[in-house]
Amino acid sequence: MSDNTETNRSHWNEAASTYNSKFSKTIQQIINEIQKRKDWIGVDWVEDNSDDEDEFSPSKKPVRLLDYACGTGLVSRGLAPYVTQCVGIDISEGMVNEYNASVQNQGIPTSEMYAMLGNLLDASNPNPTTLSGPEFYDFDIAVVGLGFHHFDDPALAAKRLAERLKKGGVFMIVDFMPHAHFHGHDGHDHPAKKTVTHMGFSDEEVKKVFEGAGVGGGFEYVVLGKGVVFEDKEKGTKMERSVFMARGSKL
Ligand SMILES: C[S@@+](CC[C@H](N)C(=O)[O-])C[C@H]1O[C@@H](n2cnc3c(N)ncnc32)[C@H](O)[C@@H]1O
Repeated sequence: MSDNTETNRSHWNEAASTYNSKFSKTIQQIINEIQKRKDWIGVDWVEDNSDDEDEFSPSKKPVRLLDYACGTGLVSRGLAPYVTQCVGIDISEGMVNEYNASVQNQGIPTSEMYAMLGNLLDASNPNPTTLSGPEFYDFDIAVVGLGFHHFDDPALAAKRLAERLKKGGVFMIVDFMPHAHFHGHDGHDHPAKKTVTHMGFSDEEVKKVFEGAGVGGGFEYVVLGKGVVFEDKEKGTKMERSVFMARGSKL
């Protein structure tokens, strides 16, 4: 495991139990933004089935989401109404436990939503055995929400995740636009700073990464209308970021 991976694992283990409560407003804002752009994402979704009595009908065509670096499950929660299965993967066992606890609390069967501990981005172990079964391939969509700026090698990440998609499947990331500073408003370092490897990504950079991974079909990068604020009242830190979503299809 690289030093950065280990730093991320331990930081996010510590942050896991309070992530949802601290950032609840921001999480909901991003979920709303994702849902607003459901058609733009361009997957052949199942109809919104949240009010459907037949919600779990086995006859529905499968639409499967890979939520990589899933954390507590922001992306899964955003897209769950339009897919038949969400599979989360994260390197932090604290995050995986939070994700699975909330699935259980909502009474959702694990066959429809669950998270696994794992890392697909280890340069020395490209295909970890725990993630090599067919249930971890052939996704209709793979998304990384606010994870790319923590990865050692974004180009490698896109390639590894593209391998998990079916042909025509959609790769999407939600992340920060380029930004210069990384500190709280009081000038002190933000506690997550040590886990960050990239200070945001421009349209051109992301396009290159997507094309290099073979997921550049119909590439689009949109900036979410309003800035997103991440405020940790307990620690007295607040940062504002412009957030983008980018999507491309596997060719
Ligand atoms: C800012 S959190 C975002 C969580 C969630 N996607 C969201 O949008 O709320 C970043 C997540 O990336 C995970 N992460 C960092 N490096 C990773 C890697 N190499 N593989 C899988 N997950 C990773 C962390 O454990 C953490 O849960």
